[in-house]
Amino acid sequence: MASTALELQGLNFNLSEEHLAVQEAARDFAQNELLPGIVERDNAARFPAEQVKRMGELGFLGMMVSPDYGGGGMDTVAYVLAMEEISKIDASASVVMSVNNSLVCYGLEAYGTEEQKQKYLTRLASGQMIGAFCLSEPEAGSDATSQATMAEDKGDYYLVNGTKNWITNGGTSGICLVIAQTDREKKHRGINCLIIEKGTPGFVVGKKEDKMGIRASDTHSLLFTDVHVPKENRIGEDGFGFKFAMSTLNGGRIGIAAQALGIAAGAYELALKYSQERKAFGKQIFDHQAIQFKLAEMVTRIEAARLLVYKAARLKDEHKDYVQAAAMAKLFASDVAMWATTEAVQIHGGYGYVKEFHVERLMRDAKITQIYEGTSEIQKLVIARELVR
Ligand code: CAA
Repeated sequence: MASTALELQGLNFNLSEEHLAVQEAARDFAQNELLPGIVERDNAARFPAEQVKRMGELGFLGMMVSPDYGGGGMDTVAYVLAMEEISKIDASASVVMSVNNSLVCYGLEAYGTEEQKQKYLTRLASGQMIGAFCLSEPEAGSDATSQATMAEDKGDYYLVNGTKNWITNGGTSGICLVIAQTDREKKHRGINCLIIEKGTPGFVVGKKEDKMGIRASDTHSLLFTDVHVPKENRIGEDGFGFKFAMSTLNGGRIGIAAQALGIAAGAYELALKYSQERKAFGKQIFDHQAIQFKLAEMVTRIEAARLLVYKAARLKDEHKDYVQAAAMAKLFASDVAMWATTEAVQIHGGYGYVKEFHVERLMRDAKITQIYEGTSEIQKLVIARELVR
């Protein structure tokens, strides 16, 4: 894809024709294939299996993967454009996309062996299967170095024992990238990342979480009891697992920032439309200054979030340091998502509190963007550390 400058031109970024085509394709897909049935899927916490299959067919699950491995060969800017459009409608679908693209595909493409890429990446990039990224544990969320899951070195295989929690795609993934401790004395330098296939004896999918938001996404605990994992399934050198997780999450945060941006923008668009349809005190509610002030502030903060998201994506595409930019984008965009969706509900009044108007779902979905792939507090820590690095 042709590279583009990030300069603002009027109210638009200087995007290439291909970027705009991706954006439009994602917008059409979201409107035509994700919006129908979304309230029912959310109510029932039903995984959008058909829609995820279509995302694979349309190329949304391996957007940045090289065509050599069946991916779209696109840049991060294209990816965030698609994430934003899909998240405006369906954050449950976009988290599947985010984890598969930014964590699983990126992690394998950047750090996997040729054999691992041939065996797994091609299927992940085309959507024939999706992947899960398994770092969090009952006692290790933000404090990710405190891994209790063990991957004992047994010579030509690892013996894995432990539990992972809150794993996106936990029940639906074909493979899991599992972070586990091999040598406790070496602390984070004794951690490994292993590719574990579904169906491996001793690997059991545990409880499905009943969540506040992104309810149609598939979130499970995963249990590993004496699971044998061949050595060739380790990603990188012995002890690289923690660095692998941190480096992969840096890019993942751009995806979640784009998700938050999309949730905020989706709520704003619904609120703007509603404000021009709903009448109160003899005029459209848009003509009341109280509503105009809200919409003006929403669109301003959303535009600021968009700038941070695009900046982080652009830095990554230019192979520059994007760690701080990604954390800033996620911190800011997720706060904007939480705030803007709350304002959108307020603008809708009583209608905002019922499901068919969609803004209450976006408000519930927004909350997770302040929590997963590092809480807002973790993002501040990452930003502050980069100030003195
Ligand atoms: N990028 C690259 N390397 C990093 C890094 C980063 N952002 N942060 C730390 N590292 C490296 C350090 O350089 C250090 O390496 P060396 O030993 O070679 O120097 C090593 O990692 C250990 O770093 P620290 O000593 O700083 O580790 P720490 O324990 O003090 O803190 C932390 C690290 C930033 C708090 C980290 O634990 C963290 O990011 N926690 C949040 C975890 C998280 O985001 N979890 C999300 C779960 S996945 C998910 O949500 C997916 C989903 O389902 C949607």
